[in-house]
Amino acid sequence: MSSNGATVHTTDHLSMIHLRAGGVSLLLDLDDDRLPQVVHWGADLGELDDDGARAARDVARLQPVGNPVDGAMRVSVVPEQSAGWLGTPGLAGSRAGTDFSPSFRVHRAALEDAPAGWLHRVVVEAADPVAGLGLVVEIEQSAAGVVRQRARVVSTVQPAAGRDPYTVDRLLVAYPVPGRAAELLDFTGHHMRERSPQRSPFGHGTHLRESRRGRTGYDAAFVLAAGTPGFAHRAGEVWAVHTAWSGNHVSLAERSYHGVGLLAGGEVLLPGEITLDAGETYASPWVYGTYGTGLDEVSARFHATVRARPRHPASPRKVVVNTWEAVYFDHDLERLTALARAAARVGAERFVLDDGWFGARRDDRRALGDWFVSPDVWPDGLGPLVDVVHGLGMEFGLWVEPEMVNEDSDLARAHPEWIMGPVASAPDAPGRLPRPARNQQVLDLGNPDAAAWLLDRLDTLLTETPVAYLKWDHNRDLVEAGHRATGRPGVHDQTVATYALLDELRRRHPGVEIESCSSGGGRVDLEILERTDRVWGSDCIDAVERQQIQGWTNLLVPYELVGAHVGAPVSHTTDRDLPLAFRAATSLFGHFGIEWDLTRASEEELAELGAWVDLYKELRGLLHTGTVVHADVVDPAYALHGVVAPDRSDAVFAWVATASSASYPVPTVTLPGLDPDGVYRLRPLGPTGPVPGIASRWGIEVPWWTPDGLEVPGVALARVGVALPVLFPERSVLLRATRVR
Ligand code: DGJ
Repeated sequence: MSSNGATVHTTDHLSMIHLRAGGVSLLLDLDDDRLPQVVHWGADLGELDDDGARAARDVARLQPVGNPVDGAMRVSVVPEQSAGWLGTPGLAGSRAGTDFSPSFRVHRAALEDAPAGWLHRVVVEAADPVAGLGLVVEIEQSAAGVVRQRARVVSTVQPAAGRDPYTVDRLLVAYPVPGRAAELLDFTGHHMRERSPQRSPFGHGTHLRESRRGRTGYDAAFVLAAGTPGFAHRAGEVWAVHTAWSGNHVSLAERSYHGVGLLAGGEVLLPGEITLDAGETYASPWVYGTYGTGLDEVSARFHATVRARPRHPASPRKVVVNTWEAVYFDHDLERLTALARAAARVGAERFVLDDGWFGARRDDRRALGDWFVSPDVWPDGLGPLVDVVHGLGMEFGLWVEPEMVNEDSDLARAHPEWIMGPVASAPDAPGRLPRPARNQQVLDLGNPDAAAWLLDRLDTLLTETPVAYLKWDHNRDLVEAGHRATGRPGVHDQTVATYALLDELRRRHPGVEIESCSSGGGRVDLEILERTDRVWGSDCIDAVERQQIQGWTNLLVPYELVGAHVGAPVSHTTDRDLPLAFRAATSLFGHFGIEWDLTRASEEELAELGAWVDLYKELRGLLHTGTVVHADVVDPAYALHGVVAPDRSDAVFAWVATASSASYPVPTVTLPGLDPDGVYRLRPLGPTGPVPGIASRWGIEVPWWTPDGLEVPGVALARVGVALPVLFPERSVLLRATRVR
């Protein structure tokens, strides 16, 4: 029996759609022509016949006690008060105060061809003729069992009808979760410490996470998960959503005393930001959701879905050397040539010239917007450096921050009207600007002239310079960001225009890879990843911090899309002094790169780094296609995470100590994800042989921790567990498990 399928059940009074894929079922009820209500979103239900589908719905119907309105309460994917839901409405808006409460009736629900990378697609079309509104709900399911939903609202009034435009205040799409999902996990963070997890009980009320920064944000919810109490990497049921939007957005978890809980997401719209005239449409962001036993299964489904995107990078992820922490703004051909030589020597494959190459940009106070090679520091253009880089067999990459402008720039002086601000401006009354951030303002891409100029400038740059890779930065929040031509808010337009700019540049330069950077990891979401090839995880490349930043970013984004650089021995952002083995082993779990002035590294360091680069090149095929696993280690000082090949024939694990432990030695740890019926050779893994733990320094070995390791039945690794070395704090060791039979 296939575990993937889409079935439409239709009887006299029942119309239900059952989507199944990758171990996840989504059972939708469209009874009474109302918007689809999710009967079940979670573990696969197997094949249901019409009676079974109907019974599954009927048996779960709640007793309508305590209802403030008569009849059953229906909570659809766009919840409506007209259907009895008194929580946060899916669609909020009005025509100058009227038509404030829609009541949609479905007139078409159909399975359609799914887009590339997706397995099933359902489209539901509904209308409220009295309010003059149409609503289209799109629901797609990937082969791995991720669902994504979005809604579009259209004003269907006749232009001549004299009705006010419809102002959209909010359009959310929702996923229901059962009562046993009583605990929440989501994320917060700040510059240098993105994606910090936080847990809370999921009680009655609304857990509201709004991001009003005009970018995804360090402190975005990122993934909002609800699960059975104590859910962990390998245990508990988990339902998780991700609002895929790079501008203002919201994710919320809401539970009412009526026995209904839901997770929802959408865009945060500023006052009057979306006003629909007759025939105009507004589309919500996609909200992704999936279910799993433990967070590892949730990740596996997200990763497989992201990897199925048609533009997912298929080639090995090249070793990057980025110049930022190596030279900052000190651009000098001789210095950068020496860096490029050292980069090539350790095996780098791509050399990325960061901030400082253009206009008068000698520090971070000026010249953003002046995207012309600086004649001061590059009198002969970038050509000589590009030739060196190419001559060393590396690709050339370049940093840009296209959406931004310094007030001290030629661009701002020529076009002050292109800067975003809160009030309408005129030449004789320019109006106030938002407070600067990192000395910069935002270029208004909702202004067609500004957008066209920027597209042309970037296009010319990519045409004139052989750039294989763009690091696309975005270093400030959008504060009071409006169109100064009209005085209206402009964050939505800015987000959409940025997507359009990226799409058009990619169309014109399909071979160029793009990295999404935003003062580190401030723009990490699945919509920016629809048009970029990796994200920069954080401006903090201290390996201790990166263990958690990369680890939690990886809950949603596979390692091959998360930049992970080996920094200098003493971290520039935390002052921690960490050995190369720990820094490099941490960067293995990502898209490996180097951000360190290698001209100052010793011969020994260069040799060791070269060995780590070789190891990365050997392992990247596994690390970038495999399944990510974590052991639920009880000891807070230690973590064990790894990547297992899809056929479970091979695996790499990292055993990491971030602090000292109360246990000495630590108890055994089971290795997740391996085949219990197989036999594995388990051995320490290092670039130049086994890396010792603390005990071996004193001659007290872990008995099996030898270069050849031990052959062990998979069942023992999974159920008995493994004794692992006691480590110094802020150290790690690697293990490899290779199936021998
Ligand atoms: C912020 C980025 O995150 C850094 O990596 C670097 O590119 C700087 N901007 C350059 O200004």
